[in-house]
Amino acid sequence: MAETKLAVRRKSRSSKRSRAPLQPVAASSPVARKRPSSEGEGPPAEAPCNNDSEEDMFGDYDSFYGNDSLIAQVADIEHKYLQDKNVKTAGEIVLGNLQSGVHQKEQDNFSASNVVVLKSDKESTCQMCDSDPADGNQELMESTLDDLPSSQLLCFEKMDELSSASRTSPISKGRDECVNSFSDKIRDPLSFYAGAEHRNRTTDTSSDSKCVLFKSESLKDHLKNAMTGNARAQTLQVSKTKQLKEAVLSEEIFVARKAIESSSLDIGPFYGLPSKVKDLFRQLRGIETLYEWQHDCLMLESLQQRKNLIYSLPTSGGKTLVAEIIILQELLCRQKDVLMILPYVAIVQEKVRGLSSFGIELGFLVEEYAGSKGRFPPIKRRVKKSLYIATIEKGHALVNSLIETERICDLGMVVVDELHMLGAGSRGAVLEITLAKILYTSKKTQIIGMSATLNNVGDLQKFLQAEYYTNNFRPVELKEYIKIRDTIYTVDSKTQNGFAFSHLLNFKYSSNLEKADPDHIIALVTEVIPKYSCLIFCPTKKNCENVASMVCKYLKKEFRAHKEKEKQDLIKNLKSIGNGTVCPVLKQIIPFGIAYHHSGLTNDERKAIEEAYSAGVLCLLACTATLAAGVNLPARRVILRAPYVGNDFLKKSQYKQMTGRAGRAGIDSAGESILIVQEKDKHLVQDLVHSPLENCNSNLLLELTKGIQSLLLSLVGLKIAVTHEEVDNFMCCTLLGVQQQLLSKEKSFSEIIKDGLENLIEKGLLKGRISEKDHNSKSTLTITPLGKATYKGSIDLAYCNILYRELKKGLEGLVLESSLHLLYLSTPYDMTSTCSPDWMIYLKQFNQLSAAEQKVADIVGVPESFITKMASGQTIRKNVDHTVVNRFYLTFVLYTLLKETNIWSVSEKFNLSRGYVQNLLNSAASFASCLLHFCEELEEFWVYKALLTELTKQLTYCVKTELIPLMEVAGVLEARAKQLYNAGYKTLAHLAYANPETLVRMIEHLSRRQAKQIISSAKMLLSEKAEALQEEVEELLKVPTDIPGTH
Ligand SMILES: Nc1ncnc2c1ncn2[C@@H]1O[C@H](COP(=O)(O)OP(=O)(O)OP(=O)(O)O)[C@@H](O)[C@H]1O
Ligand SMILES: [Mg+2]
Repeated sequence: MAETKLAVRRKSRSSKRSRAPLQPVAASSPVARKRPSSEGEGPPAEAPCNNDSEEDMFGDYDSFYGNDSLIAQVADIEHKYLQDKNVKTAGEIVLGNLQSGVHQKEQDNFSASNVVVLKSDKESTCQMCDSDPADGNQELMESTLDDLPSSQLLCFEKMDELSSASRTSPISKGRDECVNSFSDKIRDPLSFYAGAEHRNRTTDTSSDSKCVLFKSESLKDHLKNAMTGNARAQTLQVSKTKQLKEAVLSEEIFVARKAIESSSLDIGPFYGLPSKVKDLFRQLRGIETLYEWQHDCLMLESLQQRKNLIYSLPTSGGKTLVAEIIILQELLCRQKDVLMILPYVAIVQEKVRGLSSFGIELGFLVEEYAGSKGRFPPIKRRVKKSLYIATIEKGHALVNSLIETERICDLGMVVVDELHMLGAGSRGAVLEITLAKILYTSKKTQIIGMSATLNNVGDLQKFLQAEYYTNNFRPVELKEYIKIRDTIYTVDSKTQNGFAFSHLLNFKYSSNLEKADPDHIIALVTEVIPKYSCLIFCPTKKNCENVASMVCKYLKKEFRAHKEKEKQDLIKNLKSIGNGTVCPVLKQIIPFGIAYHHSGLTNDERKAIEEAYSAGVLCLLACTATLAAGVNLPARRVILRAPYVGNDFLKKSQYKQMTGRAGRAGIDSAGESILIVQEKDKHLVQDLVHSPLENCNSNLLLELTKGIQSLLLSLVGLKIAVTHEEVDNFMCCTLLGVQQQLLSKEKSFSEIIKDGLENLIEKGLLKGRISEKDHNSKSTLTITPLGKATYKGSIDLAYCNILYRELKKGLEGLVLESSLHLLYLSTPYDMTSTCSPDWMIYLKQFNQLSAAEQKVADIVGVPESFITKMASGQTIRKNVDHTVVNRFYLTFVLYTLLKETNIWSVSEKFNLSRGYVQNLLNSAASFASCLLHFCEELEEFWVYKALLTELTKQLTYCVKTELIPLMEVAGVLEARAKQLYNAGYKTLAHLAYANPETLVRMIEHLSRRQAKQIISSAKMLLSEKAEALQEEVEELLKVPTDIPGTH
């Protein structure tokens, strides 16, 4: 339709409207090539872990803040109008407010600090508005129409035209009716949704005698009119009165719902959503127009028919926006909950912060499921719908809890970002399990997956029963280069080599510099910095720091002058984050606008560096591949320092993800990537250019205890499949089932399943009989209590028995003098293999233990004599379990962390990198919450419940208790919480009702956009908590239907 089309920016080079054909299943991924060991610098790069975040790169939005006189004027007009024209209705609105209870009040308060003025002149020209330019100088008092809800303006204009014969008071009549209808809705918020048909609405063409206006129009025309009205009227001043605002929104949502129900392709000016959504995208994200592909994708017939969809576009193609619009349609129009799965904790937190403002404005809840946050099952909300934003693991636990409580059908949609994660080891297996369960148990839940790096789409389509959309669009062109010696080549897969000569690198190096920088990194970066930004991907963490230091050493002094004050501020900020210490490397390189970025940073440091880079204070980051995993930190130029990640040769998908960071939408006209290659690796790079992306293969068999066996266990536990036959049927619907042909010939698929089930029975997790004979395939399997606790706690099957034994032993003599014993039980098993104790430190720590704490060591099996001997280098005769000893060392680290709440001093004390300590802390918090769920299922462990609840909280925040309420807000880390607390913001409510301008003034290094995001997230959390309490009240007061004697 016209409105929608206008909202789309046409790009001739991207006009591939047709859906791409299915990609053939490509050959298996190329074997990873090892880097020659002589090239190795430092340890291999870490696996991506919680260290990414997605940044919204767009600027602030304007608001009413600090413009009290305008608010007062608007309020006066409305007040006067309501008094004069409709005393009765005004009374009803007040009544309505009272009746709608605590929550309504809360919303009102929120809205008072959240009213947004729409810019008139500037924005009226935007294509998304499709509106007539409003006169910015128009007097507010000029027409009483100005203070009407925008959606009604067209309605009155039309009424005015139609009833010009009886001109007595059409406008006031119309208003009476409309205000009446608004007050109806305010009295009963539910009526906007379910019972809306019964009301006296203009859409109800059969019964509406008052609004004759639309009688002769079709539903479609009416929908169009109502929504176009909003779109056209939006440049007017928005009314301050909350009731009217909410009524307008609800009216629009109602219309949108109708439109969606009518299953027409003609779904209004903004994809079936209220025009406010469009405004919000503009105000909060700076998005004025949709890309053509985004429009095409949203208009896909398969989407309208609620089919599952996979869509794939290059990095920075704008995939998120499409997903967000579809999510909003589901929440607002279809009134269903939505689960959004993102790969990392920090990305989840960023998303929660980014979408909280949408939730507040549009009336849905945003709930965080990451780390140890999230309720299982989620609270069942009466009115509002929830958007659960989850990591892969928490998303899985959430789905399990919904299946168990038979609420999985409440989940209208699941959106998976970075769908290629399906191929990412054991995390991929968890994702596959989650999706397979949804597909099997809730046919109506729509699945949407997106990625920039998919190859075997056919398999994925088959697995997800999904349609496929792809497009090569990239808002900023990417020019890919390869540098060998001093020559730059253009990457060109059409040539035999894979690259063609472009130009010679222009540089003048002294012999000293040539020695220090044989790869000419300085020449490459100084072509762009400090004016533009640059990322250098390095194979290892150590290499990041070396490269950054080397570059600084040879940069001219002038580089220091660029944004000098901001850089000093950043160092100050990092110093306060590190409780007085700054990493000496960062201290040396930041004055040049350079920093490193890898998992060796603490969460707080990483965030400060990312923010400084986004703000242009830092212009060069030397980073590992982890930065490329979904974070939005683009650069003008991306340099790949070597074609290796750790010791492994670069994979095509890694190459694509890293180079894809080049070119910032809306800022750069082009992005460039340069891969530095040594002569000897030339042929490998040729392969890289010519090879397809790696296949996304099932990982269910990769780590049996994390993959197929844990799946089989939960299938029985959740009663999804309880006979061998049912299990077989389910397994055919997994990605592994689809890819059976990839299995080795030794064992058939059904044999693998059978072995898995038998193994679970042997382990005492399942009960039942499995036999070769077909007739036994129907006998029922049941789960044991230990089995249930294991899948509910998401405990790796490899550890469930030992965990059980240790907890059981704890019951006999848990030492509670300090948290040491409990902490030992909560120390994640899988981190012990990464730990090699420093025995002298171990001994020192051991000697500081109290007598009771030494007893803990004794109980768990760490003899002092062993540690003493190890520290003095003596030979050990005693048979001691090394994993226990290592684990206890990690417990010491956690114990010290909880006492000192300072990652820096602890990492120094234990001679570990602060990033490792941070990672240990995050993992322990997560494991403690898993342990809690494990214990909840086993009656004998009732005593652990209270203890673990408290410990999980301590580990999650690991800060002074007073900071915890502030850190509950998504993405508020310790450093920020401290600042806020010291400035007097001590509670969640302080943050929720804060004024962003004051916040920016009082808190150092806080941009306006960040302040607003913090406030929105706090509001969302407060509202979520208040709602939960309300639900509880309602539940308590509900009259049971089965009171004895009443029937
Ligand atoms: N229609 C649009 N107009 C302007 N900017 C847009 C538009 N759509 C998306 N963007 C911006 O483009 C940037 C990249 O978008 P997005 O993060 O969605 O990319 P992506 O396709 O998910 O890439 P990746 O695969 O790297 O995650 C974001 O800053 C986003 O706000
Ligand atoms: Mg993305």
